[in-house]
Amino acid sequence: MNFDPYRYRGRDLHVEGVALKTIAARVGTPFYAYSAEKIRSQFRRFDRAFDGRSHTICFAVKVNSSLAVLRLLALEGAGADIVSGGELALARRAGISADRIVFAGVGKTEAEIEAALQASIFMFNVESEEELELIHSVARRLRRTAPVALRVNPDVEVDTHHHIATGRAENKFGVPFPRAEAVYRRASRMPWLKVVGVQSHIGSQILDVKPYRRTLEKLLPLVDRLAKAGIPLQTINLGGGLGVPYRPGQKGPDPSDLAREVLPLLEGRSLRLIFEPGRFMVAEAGCLVTKVLYRKETAHKNFVIVDAAMNDLARPALYDAYHHVQALRRGGRSWIADVVGPICESADYLAKGRRVPMPKAGDLWAVMTAGAYGYSMSSRYNARPRVPEVLVDGKKWWVVRERETLRDLTRGETLPEVLR
Ligand SMILES: Cc1ncc(COP(=O)(O)O)c(C=O)c1O
Repeated sequence: MNFDPYRYRGRDLHVEGVALKTIAARVGTPFYAYSAEKIRSQFRRFDRAFDGRSHTICFAVKVNSSLAVLRLLALEGAGADIVSGGELALARRAGISADRIVFAGVGKTEAEIEAALQASIFMFNVESEEELELIHSVARRLRRTAPVALRVNPDVEVDTHHHIATGRAENKFGVPFPRAEAVYRRASRMPWLKVVGVQSHIGSQILDVKPYRRTLEKLLPLVDRLAKAGIPLQTINLGGGLGVPYRPGQKGPDPSDLAREVLPLLEGRSLRLIFEPGRFMVAEAGCLVTKVLYRKETAHKNFVIVDAAMNDLARPALYDAYHHVQALRRGGRSWIADVVGPICESADYLAKGRRVPMPKAGDLWAVMTAGAYGYSMSSRYNARPRVPEVLVDGKKWWVVRERETLRDLTRGETLPEVLR
């Protein structure tokens, strides 16, 4: 069941049992709010779809690295897909057990590899031959065997924004498919490596699940060739990427659609299936609440200037991403406008040419479906302190990350003597 935590009760937009205006009155704007129950229900939908098949769901930490969100998912039984030593520390801090952590990324440093080996993670998703050598040399030095999967680039096309398509031959990710077998043979001869699996992540915001099947159709013959060559794999990791509906009325794929595509191909095989979903778990759980500052009408366009900006939510500027915008208080007239932030960049917008409520200063609006790649991509650009994060569960809510203060803007900075 697809649970929607955002509803108007009376005229006020609520997340679960809490009116967003109540939170705004206490914490100010802008802020991110997340529905705990939506995150749980998304995890369970995914998990249930693969019931009966040995599988591990490793939440992609980059997507939302709030400790409370990670902890919530840890309690549901999620593992973690990490891309840095920082994410390793966060995942461990949230209580995600190391044997459910997979480590991806094209630029793992020696220190990060060492930290992951010391923590005894599930496996490294290795993205190049040089990385394989470095992991091997660190493993030998520490006298700890490193479990590895090769990230293979299957050259599969997906229909998504070109910045988030990752499985084409021209992308920087993974080992090119034609090289994979040779690299596996090399890896299998390295005594401090244990070859355990294959991984592939073809892109993000994937609404049509067929490319997963095409990926598997490419990977399984490789798995068979490797088995014949004496390199049996135990895991197959299809990455993340399952998309969500961003527009009202749009329908996103269900994890059971994904299961229907891939499970028949795996029948009779004992491979453990791994997924690294990020967006699917948290996007719809979150919104960014913002306040209208000004209304501006020009000969060409109408603008609504709000107090949230591209530093808080970068997706529109970065990917031309669509986020639905709605008022916390329902009703009244509407007009067509661009919703923009206070930052000095033309790319600083949250919505373009959108029918939105007729604004007046002080109105509160919510930018929806903002739980994924929202706060985690935010910055302090234009010396704007990062906004707080709030977790809502039923009728309860907590500030799980404080709003930054002006002091945070200069934390760690010092003036050399000559400038004092
Ligand atoms: C290797 C890897 N796994 C998983 C993900 C999560 O993707 P999504 O949020 O689309 O599920 C990403 C996103 O970039 C990724 O690079």
